[in-house]
Amino acid sequence: MIQILNVSLGERSYPIHIGCGLLSDAALIQPYLKQKKAVVVSNTTVAPLYLATLTETLGQAGVAVQPVILPDGEEYKNWATLNLIFDALLASHCERSTPLIALGGGVIGDMGGFAAACYQRGMPFIQVPTTLLSQVDSSVGGKTAINHPLGKNMIGAFYQPCLVLADLNTLDTLPRRELAAGLAEVIKYGLIGDPEFFAWLENHLDALLACDKTALAYAVARSCANKAAVVAADEREAGERALLNLGHTFGHAIETGLGYGQWLHGEAVAAGTLIAAELSVRLGWLTADEARRIEGLLSRAELPVRAPPLGVERYLELMRHDKKVADGQLRLVLLQGIGRAAVTDTASEGDISAAIAARCD
Ligand code: NAD
Ligand code: GLY
Repeated sequence: MIQILNVSLGERSYPIHIGCGLLSDAALIQPYLKQKKAVVVSNTTVAPLYLATLTETLGQAGVAVQPVILPDGEEYKNWATLNLIFDALLASHCERSTPLIALGGGVIGDMGGFAAACYQRGMPFIQVPTTLLSQVDSSVGGKTAINHPLGKNMIGAFYQPCLVLADLNTLDTLPRRELAAGLAEVIKYGLIGDPEFFAWLENHLDALLACDKTALAYAVARSCANKAAVVAADEREAGERALLNLGHTFGHAIETGLGYGQWLHGEAVAAGTLIAAELSVRLGWLTADEARRIEGLLSRAELPVRAPPLGVERYLELMRHDKKVADGQLRLVLLQGIGRAAVTDTASEGDISAAIAARCD
């Protein structure tokens, strides 16, 4: 069964298809291909697994594939790798209306999307996410970016895809550590605004870790529905969308501080979420019992519950690059309960430091 959700953004609205075997369904993608050629951006891990299937499907739709295969890893999410995409687009005479399809996880989706936004000022962009994290989060909402040595996702653009195809069968080959990393972002939706979903996750976590397709279909669809609602209300993060960054201010500091690719994005978000929970308890926003419940679920999801010992000063320095900083003032997403997140600039540096120190190894 295929579930179809819509991201409502006026003339830039687009569908998200979620189901098994979508990579082989030519009818789903054909309406979005206006040329006889499409570029598929993927990497050295995902291409050997899924590029042949996608190429055959596009062939049935009368479309030839120009592959662009990038090195695999967060450490390659940078200018040099982005330029490889531009080199290939120019060398193969791609036009403004040539579709660019990102086949892979969030790194490929973020870089492919940024390339699509920039090449000839914008080409049609299709997301085919193949990790749990990219199916529930990064393929939806139009944030595209590369990393800078001084800060994560610092160079980028808002650029919406015209179609998202989340084929749950691709998750069969995903390493368990990557599946767990995706669960960090799934749990995030429960914490931000969907307490019923959080409770559902407590009851179905084992099925998700076992890659049960019924449970995955429900979790991916409910996550995407949560994200689509937030993006439709606040596409460019003037307000509410910042809540989707729960745990990310601390998490991005972990990723940048350790060096990209050391901790997975979802792992850093999990540890960051628990620093945010700790700070919320210190401010009297969250009860200690609620914080323990959050730690219990993240721990069962095989995610790190302690942050790496970068030193409090280093955390604070890295966090000053956060995109929510406004007029030099740090703003954080904290929890007022399970299912109730809020942005605040009222936490003192002393409380923030104490929360970081309490959750670091
Ligand atoms: P990733 O793209 O690095 O993929 C994880 C690993 O799994 C990689 O080695 C990849 O090659 C491999 N892989 C992908 N699909 C596979 C499959 N089906 N079978 C086997 N291996 C597979 O990481 P990710 O967790 O998907 O994405 C993380 C990135 O997403 C980060 O850069 C993060 O900043 C970004 N992100 C962006 C947004 C957004 O809104 N744009 C949101 C969240 C995260
Ligand atoms: N992952 C945060 C956002 O899409 O806004």
